[in-house]
Amino acid sequence: MICAETPDALREAADAWRRAGERIAFVPTMGNLHAGHMALVTRARELAARVVVSIFVNPLQFDRADDLARYPRTLADDEARLRAAGVDALYLPDEATMYPQGRAGQTRVHVPVLSELLCGASRPGHFDGVATVVCKLFHQVRPDLALFGEKDWQQLVIIRKMVADLDLPVEIVGVPTVREADGLAMSSRNGYLNASERPRAAAIHRALRQGADWLRAGERDYEGIAARLARQIEAAGLRVDYLEIRRPDLGVASRDDRDWVILAAAWLGKARLIDNLRVRA
Ligand code: PAF
Repeated sequence: MICAETPDALREAADAWRRAGERIAFVPTMGNLHAGHMALVTRARELAARVVVSIFVNPLQFDRADDLARYPRTLADDEARLRAAGVDALYLPDEATMYPQGRAGQTRVHVPVLSELLCGASRPGHFDGVATVVCKLFHQVRPDLALFGEKDWQQLVIIRKMVADLDLPVEIVGVPTVREADGLAMSSRNGYLNASERPRAAAIHRALRQGADWLRAGERDYEGIAARLARQIEAAGLRVDYLEIRRPDLGVASRDDRDWVILAAAWLGKARLIDNLRVRA
């Protein structure tokens, strides 16, 4: 596995693969890799001859300095997992490489409307930070395809729109959420849960499944369903940030829709957990 810290070092290897006609799949991450990330890598290996993974804890997408400071950094373990998984290149840029003019001087990519909803409403500037770093990484890595987890549904929708709006020549592939046995979506932030909080975290996925049952049974009072589901989650001791039923493209759902996504974010102790469930009737 090649480890590259600059776009030039990565380009040397990637150009040779391109000349040989090999497709390049890219998995951008912030490290602290878990089974969810490894599912992206596995899918990437199925879809392309070469796989590049990046690890960069992107300061632009953190709305709170304490959240950035305590974000788990586990590079040695991550590197070992990626090597064992047969990844071809690990790209490890530092902040000066990504943002040479500093954070304040960095040109930003803003995807309107979608960036202001849901997580964007609670974390101002978060999706500008995500869109900006992903756009830069795409230019540096120049992949044929890039893979993102469906757990971050809003992020996936925003990246698809950015790619379409900016004519970026990369195919975006969504990969299903990987869950713990009790349904909790895998996330680096699950590590913030203590022993008494951890079992209660599964209340989010339980509520989403209950909502799916109600939608499939014909209920269409979206706000009423959302309020009942939020109460279920709060009964387990979480504080709900939002719970909404929307179209998969995050448009407002109408009574005639038969395809939805239920999206939730909730606080449990120090962890802000997000999850979603696609439902078709
Ligand atoms: O999903 C993530 O881990 C991050 O938002 C991403 C896409 C790597 C950008 O920093």
